[in-house]
Amino acid sequence: MSSTVNIPGPKGLPLSGNLLAFRKDPLGFLIKARQQYGDVAHIRFGPRHVYLISDPEQIKEVLLTKQSAFRKAKGLQTAKAVVGEGILTSEGEKHMRQRRLLQPSFRKDRIGKYAEAMIEYGEKMLASWKSGETRVITDDMMQLTLDIITHTMFGTSIADGVDDISHAIDVGMKYVTHKATSVIDIPESLPTKSNLEFKQAAATLDKVIFGIIEERRKHPDPSRGDLLSMLLAARDEEDGTGMSDRQVRDEVMTIFIAGHETTANTLSWTWYLLSQNPEAEKAFHEELDRVLDGRKPTYDDLEKLPFTHHVVSESMRLYPAAWAINREMQQEVEIGGNTYKPGDTLMMSQYVMHRRPDFFEEPERFKPERFAGDLLKKIPAFAYFPFGGGPRVCIGNNFALMEATLLLATIGSRYTLKLAPGHPPVEPEPLVTLRPKGGLQMAVTARR
Ligand code: HEM
Repeated sequence: MSSTVNIPGPKGLPLSGNLLAFRKDPLGFLIKARQQYGDVAHIRFGPRHVYLISDPEQIKEVLLTKQSAFRKAKGLQTAKAVVGEGILTSEGEKHMRQRRLLQPSFRKDRIGKYAEAMIEYGEKMLASWKSGETRVITDDMMQLTLDIITHTMFGTSIADGVDDISHAIDVGMKYVTHKATSVIDIPESLPTKSNLEFKQAAATLDKVIFGIIEERRKHPDPSRGDLLSMLLAARDEEDGTGMSDRQVRDEVMTIFIAGHETTANTLSWTWYLLSQNPEAEKAFHEELDRVLDGRKPTYDDLEKLPFTHHVVSESMRLYPAAWAINREMQQEVEIGGNTYKPGDTLMMSQYVMHRRPDFFEEPERFKPERFAGDLLKKIPAFAYFPFGGGPRVCIGNNFALMEATLLLATIGSRYTLKLAPGHPPVEPEPLVTLRPKGGLQMAVTARR
């Protein structure tokens, strides 16, 4: 059995290792690392040893079969400032308990009732659009998915606090993104402008959320059907206990943070890809016209919109909002014949895997119809994994797919979106999630 030291990677590196080259162009760097060094590439970020794993079988071992040997990598520590010890950031036994408590709220039969809010907020947004105008679509999609998750979480109870929550979450997201990507780590205790702004936003969120939790504990009403009432009513099937107020608060924040930017970016990328691929756009419009004929979609229409589903799958293939997953070794473990040491980081990149020509013919082309057949049965598991996999697979995957499909249908049956004239070339920016760099300005034209 070989040891980690024998894994190929660039040699003769400076102290910073590959960090500068990676920071300059993370996606290009990863694609090249795989091309040059194969399915396991040794990279160094300063003193840290990182191994880029691009073999589906080995990815499966890390995320599924041998997952207990790993924990989430350090990058997530910053997120803890916002989401506390929620399901996204907790580990081991604590994570498993939270997963048991939250899972039922995200079952397919439960989330169906959020379809109406998704469509309603989509319609509400369209009411402010004017045919022929240019809009910052990335902002529109972010606001839309934030409104939807806020409504899904609290139902109609906080109409007045929505703006406060929206603003505070926005500040929190920007803070986490900035901290996760900046070279110098400024301690949270220093009174810098962004630290103070963040603290104020966190205090606002706590005040609003704890206030609502207290109110709901006093007047429980399980028939409300929103996510918060499900979290408050959730009981662990193993010991019958529920969550403390602090735990509920952490899960509310987790779902806000994990549950809107990813879907918003997926939608933005989809509008961009459709605008660049007239044939696919035509097939998309034809399906919507045939099924909806100008009316609003409903939950029951979902199964009648296969092409729209394939558009979402293909968009997540080319521009996966979660572009890489990192895991840190907790104990020595063997993966694919290599033994890794505690402290080593394994990186698995959806962006790299989804563009492999051996799994996806003409990988750079946007071809939604590739998902029409049995592609996912033909390629190995974990060659396509936009939602991760194993016990930490995205808990909101069905929610996200339903939301993206219904919003594409709501918007696409009424408007055509084209990149604004003279738009600079669109490039992906891999921050915490993969976004179109500088945002997308698009001209929106009414279709009927
Ligand atoms: C297109 C949209 C989305 C994408 C691409 C996405 C992707 C992912 C990925 C890759 C993971 C696993 C991360 C890892 O293993 O390190 C994850 C976890 C998670 N996602 Fe999503 N997600 C999306 C939407 C959502 C939505 C809508 C929600 C909630 C409403 C959500 C809630 C979560 C939570 C709570 C976790 C942590 C699960 C755990 O650790 O047990 N996500 N997501």
